[in-house]
Amino acid sequence: MLRMIIALGADHGGFPLKKPVSEATESGGNTVLDLGTFDETPVDYPDYAKSVADSLTSGRAQRGILLCGSGVGACVAANKIAGIRACLCHDTYSAHQGVEHDNMNILCLGARVIGPALAVELVNSFLGATFSGAARHKRRLEKIVALEKPLHHE
Ligand code: RB5
Repeated sequence: MLRMIIALGADHGGFPLKKPVSEATESGGNTVLDLGTFDETPVDYPDYAKSVADSLTSGRAQRGILLCGSGVGACVAANKIAGIRACLCHDTYSAHQGVEHDNMNILCLGARVIGPALAVELVNSFLGATFSGAARHKRRLEKIVALEKPLHHE
């Protein structure tokens, strides 16, 4: 398994999963970059999505995990940032296949939807996977990068 720095961010809705997710990440030999939040005081998930995304685009971390109530808001916010491929995965197949085929770099989870045991399995699937590097997967990623460019609709 790869050893990586994993940026972890949660809003108050995701906070209950933070400890099991953090422990699973570290037990896999990875280092957690904890970007908050640190209690269940209401906060705004876009702030944490931005912190985690920025840590990836700046090279401080290799992958990220975002937690909110449903996982949806954090996912939507993170994907606004170029270079981010965040996905809400509540099944283990998507959690690893999203890395292998799509080079997903942020896993989003909803703490009001799944419990800690499944969250740990999802984290292990996500962190244990690597991008295939296959020509067809690279070609599709290049098309995603083209979509990030302002004039892609021309
Ligand atoms: C916070 O109440 C909640 O809206 C947030 O955690 C998340 O579920 C949004 O998608």
